[in-house]
Amino acid sequence: MIFYFSGTGNSRYVAERIAKHTGDKALDICGLNPDGSVTGEMTDSIGFVFPVYSWGVPPVMCDFVRCMSKEIVAFIQDNDIPVWMVATCGDETGDAHRMFRKLLKSVNLELRGCWSVIMPNTYVLLPGFDVDADSVRIDKIDKARIQVGRIASKILNNEWEENVTEGSFPTLKTRIVYPLFKRWGIKPSKWHSTDDCTGCGACSAACPVGNISIVGSRPKWGDNCTSCLACYHVCQRHAVHYAGMTGKKGQYLPCQRILSLPECGSE
Ligand SMILES: Cc1cc2nc3c(=O)[nH]c(=O)nc-3n(C[C@H](O)[C@H](O)[C@H](O)COP(=O)(O)O)c2cc1C
Repeated sequence: MIFYFSGTGNSRYVAERIAKHTGDKALDICGLNPDGSVTGEMTDSIGFVFPVYSWGVPPVMCDFVRCMSKEIVAFIQDNDIPVWMVATCGDETGDAHRMFRKLLKSVNLELRGCWSVIMPNTYVLLPGFDVDADSVRIDKIDKARIQVGRIASKILNNEWEENVTEGSFPTLKTRIVYPLFKRWGIKPSKWHSTDDCTGCGACSAACPVGNISIVGSRPKWGDNCTSCLACYHVCQRHAVHYAGMTGKKGQYLPCQRILSLPECGSE
């Protein structure tokens, strides 16, 4: 059983790829009831796959873990089911894995294995941050394919390890920047569309939490934004923007992704 959260498909790819190797099921946590998702199903391990957000765990994944019922936790404990995580990141995880370990501990679960996989970067909301150049993106995807196969073999063989790219000053970044991200980095009111928007609804369809509705042929953002940037990266017309921050930034278009590759330019 693998629970994943993914904005732009990287973590979904990792979750589905591992599931294919191990014969597990990969389940998108958005729309899942954390109370009812495990009971009654026998599984060799429980995995969590998510992107790193500001050197931490996406709040939506934290909420999912915190909402797992006592029965599910007891089921995992009683059957001694190993729990593992894979964090996808553009460059480095910081202390995200330690944060996740602590989160699991708060619901009385132990993290046995953790890995990170470097994938194309999606973060563009601050000055100095942009998507990867084509060559970097392609190189990351090539390496990730191989690494995910290796991780799946480790999981299948119960070879637990801690193998993450935490980067420099991980604790400092996670302790200082992540709380700031949570407080100031997720502002749905800053999203808007420009006159290039055709109202095609791709942003609404891409939003993993259903936070975007099309009103009068333009997108309207609700309050439940996870800051995953799916709406920004999916727009073929580059008509979705965040405050004045994204005008000149690049996009990680669906046709450049490792999964689900519709043609670039298709409406
Ligand atoms: C809000 C946000 C914050 C991010 N923070 C980090 C970070 O701290 N370190 C990093 O290496 N990548 C960071 N990234 C990049 C993503 O972790 C990375 O591209 C990930 O693979 C995206 O996964 P997804 O396609 O499943 O959403 C961030 C992306 C977003 C949207």
